[in-house]
Formats: sequence, structure tokens, C-alpha cells
Amino acid sequence: MIIEMRTYKIKPGKRSQFLDIFGSKSVPAHTEIGMKISGPFLSVEDPDTFFFMRGFPDIASREPMKAKFYEGELWKRELENILMPMIEKYEVVVVEVPEEQVHWSWAHDMHEERVRPGGVDIAALRALLDELAGFGRQHDARETEHSRRMLNVTPETGQFLAILVRATRAAQILEIGTSNGYSTIWLAWAARDTGGHVTTLERSPDKAAMARANLQRAGLADRVTVREGTALDILAGLDGPYELIFLDADRPNYLAYLGRILPRLRPGGLLVADNVVSHAGDGYGDPPRGERGGVDLQETLSTAFHRTV
Ligand SMILES: C[S@@+](CC[C@H](N)C(=O)[O-])C[C@H]1O[C@@H](n2cnc3c(N)ncnc32)[C@H](O)[C@@H]1O
Repeated sequence: MIIEMRTYKIKPGKRSQFLDIFGSKSVPAHTEIGMKISGPFLSVEDPDTFFFMRGFPDIASREPMKAKFYEGELWKRELENILMPMIEKYEVVVVEVPEEQVHWSWAHDMHEERVRPGGVDIAALRALLDELAGFGRQHDARETEHSRRMLNVTPETGQFLAILVRATRAAQILEIGTSNGYSTIWLAWAARDTGGHVTTLERSPDKAAMARANLQRAGLADRVTVREGTALDILAGLDGPYELIFLDADRPNYLAYLGRILPRLRPGGLLVADNVVSHAGDGYGDPPRGERGGVDLQETLSTAFHRTV
């Protein structure tokens, strides 16, 4: 498959107008001709810069498909006269990528994703994630006992986790702290795209049961192994190596986890720990044997990484 990545710089003040026409006119017109479109992705550094990708089955079909697009009525009327004058400059990068390595899950032609065998129903998955996020918020507001709260990551964090999995192409993923499976669903959804698998550890039988049910509803149960029990014990019996480990459990054990996690993290793998900065005052437990007292988790993590990776 041939992919063009196009980066655009929009003239100041034209951003929302540009994106509106891009989304409502340009993307459907591309899709109608048979091109795949993914994006637009906005730059975090410059709100006037964004990119999108368009895909062609092969190099031979690229020029005819583009010609068809640019000869169309829409190009002359809307795109050439309105859209392009809003742009200061753009760049195009063309790459060839094996079809199976490209997943257009953010594309506007999600219909195809929905009907592809083995594909997840994205609309249903998003609805379930929204439902679980709402449930977690309401439940935790009512529940006074900390251990019975869901304590889910925010939707933004969930999405960020999924981006990390996809960006690093992590296949073997370990999560410590499942709760009812909210973050697990985000991880498993991305793992489906990398051909991967998530192993997730949860101490509470009730929460583990909820997670299993939610993963079933998400259509992702086959991507996940929920292991019930105390994480430190289960970790001792896991081989790894894992390419991404998400640590989101009992902070007093964070330092103890390090000793079990790092040997199971593939060199170059990613360890993501939630609430390292936000709840630093709560403490992370005793430092591993041999470390000096008063250890700072971030410092320990960075030292450990430099030793390990
Ligand atoms: C912050 S919640 C996890 C939230 C989940 N990652 C999410 O975003 O949906 C932490 C979970 O870790 C579990 N937990 C705490 N200590 C544990 C331990 N020692 N072993 C296994 N699970 C533990 C708790 O029962 C709780 O469900």
C-alpha cells in the first residue's frame, strides 16, 4: 500500500474554517474515489499545522486516483478556490507500507472497519468506553470505601495509553491494576492493532469479574488474560518479556514492583506508571533492598532504566 503523508500549515485565523471544509467536503470526496483517509491529526506544537494520510492500493493506482480527485467538480469549486488559499504551505511524504501493517482505525471510512471480519465495532466500543467512564465517575462519587472505587484513568489517559501501544507497536502488554477493565479495554483495542495481547492483574475478585464482563462486551476478551490475585505474587510467576507495562495499582508497592517489573521489560520497552507525580506525597513504599532511604520514585525509575535498557 502507498501512503502519502501530507503536512499542512494553515494561514492564521483560518484553522477552524479549513478543518470544517476538510472534514465535510474533502474527506468524503477522497473516500468516494476509493482512497483511504486518516486524520486530520493536529500538531501539539503549532495549532495551525496538521497532517493527514491518504492511502492508495499501489503505486500504479496513485496517479489515476489523484487525477480523478483533482478533476472532480468539488476540487475546482470548493477545494481549489476556498480550501487551498487558506494554506501557506504543505509537504508530502510518500512511503510504501505492507497493507497488514496499516490500520485505518481513525479513518473516516469506519464502515469498512465495522464490517471487516474480526474487526471491532468502533462506534459500539466508543459508546461502551463512554458508558464505563460515566459509571466510574458516578460510582466513585458515591462509594466511600477507597478499595471499592473503580479509580479508572481518564478517557484522555486511556486514549494516550492506546496511542503508546500503537506507536511503539507493543504486542506483549502487562497491566498491573485492572479494576473493572476500563484502561484494559483501551490497551486491548490497541493490542488488537499490533497483533498483541494484554495480561492484566487484579486483586479484587469482584472487579476482575466486572473486567471480564466488560471485555466480553467490548469484543476484546480474546486479547486479554485477567489474572486474579496479589500482583507481587503473580508477577513472580510471569516470564515476559513485555514491551509495554502499565502500572496503576497500590502505590505503597510501586518500588517493590520495580524489582519484579524491570527484569520482565524487554530492552527498549516502555514502563508507564500512573500517578507518579500527582500523588507523590502518598509515598511509594520502602526502597528496594540496598537503595538508600528517602528514595524518589522518579529518580529511581530513571536510574533503573539507564541500568536496564
Ligand atoms: C487505580 S485502580 C486501576 C484502574 C484501572 N487501571 C483503570 O484505569 O480502569 C487500581 C487497582 O489495582 C488493584 N490493586 C491494588 N493493589 C493490588 C495488588 N497488590 N495486587 C493486584 N491488584 C491490586 C485495586 O483493586 C484496583 O482495582
